[in-house]
Amino acid sequence: MLRLAVFASGQGSNLEAIYHSISRGALHDVELALVISNNSASGALSFARKREIPGIHLSVLSCENDKLKFESKLLLTLQDAKIDLIALAGYMKKLPGKVLEEYAGRIVNIHPALLPEFGGKGMYGMNVHAAVLASGAKISGASAHFVEGEYDTGEIILQETCPVIQGETPESLAERVKEIEHRILPKAIQVIANRVNKGK
Ligand code: GRF
Repeated sequence: MLRLAVFASGQGSNLEAIYHSISRGALHDVELALVISNNSASGALSFARKREIPGIHLSVLSCENDKLKFESKLLLTLQDAKIDLIALAGYMKKLPGKVLEEYAGRIVNIHPALLPEFGGKGMYGMNVHAAVLASGAKISGASAHFVEGEYDTGEIILQETCPVIQGETPESLAERVKEIEHRILPKAIQVIANRVNKGK
């Protein structure tokens, strides 16, 4: 069984999707072992606590604004929990370098657009959907990709598209894209888990 840590800053609907995929066996050989959030008031942390999944509030701020302290505390937390895989599910921060190194090839992020377009710094939340609409694109979707140093780079694991409907607002587009995210993030975790298991 591979041990998964989910990092989430907000509502946590992708975390819920992962949880339910595991519960119904669609995502298998993976255990939801830890939830980490930089936001103590996140829906993700309260969901974890309700389900008795270990949930930890950890951020640079909670480490006296000391980036190095945060990096070593985070690494230690992951090692103590024997984490094998990491899923960034609406995590609004960059992972520290040592965590990226330690978990290279074992970190997936979900992005609410079709990368490589509409990614990079500032491309998060409604900004992404507003940019898609402003571009006149006729399709959007979501991308699950490996995490490397920069925002939204790294090999794409899975993508799924949806049409952009006339008169669409960023909010209405976000809603449909989220349904896609909830489908492809657990599948992408499975892809990584299978690769890790093969390499063992
Ligand atoms: C998702 O749209 C994800 O793509 C983005 O942040 C949002 C998180 O949503 N990176 P939730 O907290 O999982 O509901």
